[in-house]
Amino acid sequence: MKSIASAPGKIILFGEHFVVYGIKAILCSIDKRITVTSQFLDEKIIRVSSSLGESEMEINSLNNLEKVPQKFMKPFFYIAKKAVEENSTAKGIEIILESEIPAGVGLGSSSAACVAATASVNGLFNKLSKDEVVKRAIQTERTIFEQSSGADSSVSTFGGLVSYDLKNGFKNILSRNDLSFIISNSAQIHNTQDVVRQVRNFKEKNEDMFRKFCEQEIDIVNNATVALKENDLNELGSLMLKNQELLKQIGISTEKIDLLVKEAKRTSYGAKITGAGGGGCIISLVDDSNRENTLDNLGKISDCFLAKIDYNGLVYA
Ligand code: MEV
Repeated sequence: MKSIASAPGKIILFGEHFVVYGIKAILCSIDKRITVTSQFLDEKIIRVSSSLGESEMEINSLNNLEKVPQKFMKPFFYIAKKAVEENSTAKGIEIILESEIPAGVGLGSSSAACVAATASVNGLFNKLSKDEVVKRAIQTERTIFEQSSGADSSVSTFGGLVSYDLKNGFKNILSRNDLSFIISNSAQIHNTQDVVRQVRNFKEKNEDMFRKFCEQEIDIVNNATVALKENDLNELGSLMLKNQELLKQIGISTEKIDLLVKEAKRTSYGAKITGAGGGGCIISLVDDSNRENTLDNLGKISDCFLAKIDYNGLVYA
């Protein structure tokens, strides 16, 4: 028996980093997915494989997850350990990940993997509801990234264009915008936890300045909510550029990112970092009138592709 589930990556349109401190963010899932296939094994082992490598542990040794050979694999062993314990099974589990989402560049690949793996592994026993999946996926993600706001896992589970804040959680933005973005990869791999820590240090050293930035971010997000409802691409683009300035001020842009944003500005409505920054990807807002030019333009200096909003979220196959 196989249990298969897939979940989408995400982009953050507005509010990354500030969301960790309670400010509302706007994000959407995108039409690039991770698919996870789980099946029982006769041997009492958990085996995880993905294009990034393969790893295996005996079920008896799962009490110490710090011994997982590759840290990024820890969430999958954690999910399997919980499922084995809760269902008192005598079998092992194989977990296979297949991804269309580039890893480590701000597109939510690790959250999507946590969501899809939670659904797939538990689906061997009972299909979990989306509410249950997201709760567990956030817990799982926090095994490697303690300060995760939960935004990425939430949007990956439910899909669509949403707002998210720590207090109120996830809310659909009631618009069926068919927004298009060019995602351009700086090829500078980052570690989200490290960049979040770097921003925390910045905040601790510059409390007043950071408070002002938070106020500016609140205005940007409020104006963006209106612009999204009115489908005002010019306004959205200019708010993205304002948000990029704030991200630059808190120290998470890089020379390569600045160059990509400068180029993207020439043809798109606006552009900014998406996700943790410190490298990673930028998003540029486009429509039919400027999509090809922007792709050509950014394609000369980076790997880039078109992404649209995904309205499905987690899907069981
Ligand atoms: C990472 O995609 C987004 C951050 O705001 C961290 C988080 O929200 O957990 C940088």
